[in-house]
Amino acid sequence: MRTGFPENFLWGGAISASQADGAYDVDGKGLDTQDLRYFDSRWTKEERDHQRNINMTGEQFKKALIEKDAVNYPFRQGINFYHHYKEDLALMEELGLKIFRTSINWARIFPNGDDVEPNEAGIQFYVNLFEECRKRGMKVFATILHYNIPVNLVTKYGGWKNRKTIDFYLRYARVLFERIGDRVDYWLPFNEINAGKFNPYNGVCLIKDQEEHYENAIYQCLHHQFIANALTVKLAHEIIPGSKVGGMIARFTTYPATCKPEDVMQSILDEQYANYFYTDVMARGKYPSYMERYFHENQITIQKEAGDDRILQQYTVDFLSFSYYMSMVATTDKNWDRTGGNLVTGNKNPYLQASDWGWKIDPIGLRVSLNQMYDRYQLPVFIAENGIGALDEYTDGKIHDPYRIDYLREHFKQMREAIVDGVELIGYTMWGIIDIVSCGTIEMRKRYGVIYVDRDDRGQGSNQRYKKDSFYWNQQCIKDNGENL
Ligand code: BG6
Repeated sequence: MRTGFPENFLWGGAISASQADGAYDVDGKGLDTQDLRYFDSRWTKEERDHQRNINMTGEQFKKALIEKDAVNYPFRQGINFYHHYKEDLALMEELGLKIFRTSINWARIFPNGDDVEPNEAGIQFYVNLFEECRKRGMKVFATILHYNIPVNLVTKYGGWKNRKTIDFYLRYARVLFERIGDRVDYWLPFNEINAGKFNPYNGVCLIKDQEEHYENAIYQCLHHQFIANALTVKLAHEIIPGSKVGGMIARFTTYPATCKPEDVMQSILDEQYANYFYTDVMARGKYPSYMERYFHENQITIQKEAGDDRILQQYTVDFLSFSYYMSMVATTDKNWDRTGGNLVTGNKNPYLQASDWGWKIDPIGLRVSLNQMYDRYQLPVFIAENGIGALDEYTDGKIHDPYRIDYLREHFKQMREAIVDGVELIGYTMWGIIDIVSCGTIEMRKRYGVIYVDRDDRGQGSNQRYKKDSFYWNQQCIKDNGENL
């Protein structure tokens, strides 16, 4: 029986290109879809939640294409990781990280998405970045696509709705495997592939008012992403024998609100539609039968090509991963209290505390998720994201964040439990290991890091990095391999 974290457990940290890099027009990079998300620091909390561009409109999109300013488009600046990565990775080495997860920005490699030749300066950036990781003793976990695609693919082809985007994506993936493949240890073709359903602009880059049947378009895009995902597994295995390619979802662990049979059935459906559909396709290699009913009842017809089913079946993923921030409650009671959450709002669980953003904190839900995932697929599991977004206070070079230490400790304890339960857990990359622009609400003040970045919602600040109390706690935890939680 396993008794705790294995010796080679991969303690890590994660960020994404659009939220961290900045330098949005440097060294030949093209404009990408996240560069177009507008933010106003004067917005109230309600406005921030409301304006977060889940449903980007044609007008917002057009306006953003013309506007040159970066202050109202925080993803254009990020935390300037592009020019700061050496210092940041030095801090991560000091922290003791064994693995670093980030995403590659498609528009740095192919500025327009459909270019014939890649941008050499873009490739060089990732060669340097990943070599720096290795020099500092960190493995590399690379996400090929964390939401942002070159804008040109949307304006010229309709993005993921168009099957051609699969070919452009594969051309991009091929360049990565051939040119930087030997520097990467784990690959994720898509960040949270189910995001397309819950945040269609981020996940599949759809513009809502340009769609006649929005939901149909979402599933069509998702189908193309599934095919791209499977063909990327094939390509990686061909070009880099032995490479490890995973599937990822945002895990919405769901409990029935009561033991009323209606609630229990609702929770089964919620799990299928929000989570298992995606992992079933990527790991079992086919569309699950429960989706036939859903598609029929919602008048959804997906255009598939002959051979698609075979592609899905032949090229399944080597491991599964997920982001985990909170659990959900399923009920048929329309008057149940609601609360915030990652990508979605949900029903409130009265037994749990919430973060400053209303996301329910549920460490045991992580053990539940790990068990469910491993039980269903028997594939190694990687926790690609987990952490707490909070309002940290900086005073005289210090940031006291006991709530983050508590959050991490309780989640780590449950990871250990899951390992003892028998789950093959490879690693854990804490989300936003260094403060970055938040993805959902585009705020800088929603901080996840154990490293603080002096920058506010108006883009003001020294951009200096500081270690929070949680940095030292996390450092000790990694040193002890999670033995003294
Ligand atoms: C995940 C995304 O869904 O949630 C990240 O992959 C994101 O990009 C994270 O940052 C946390 O969400 P938010 O909105 O707090 O940044």
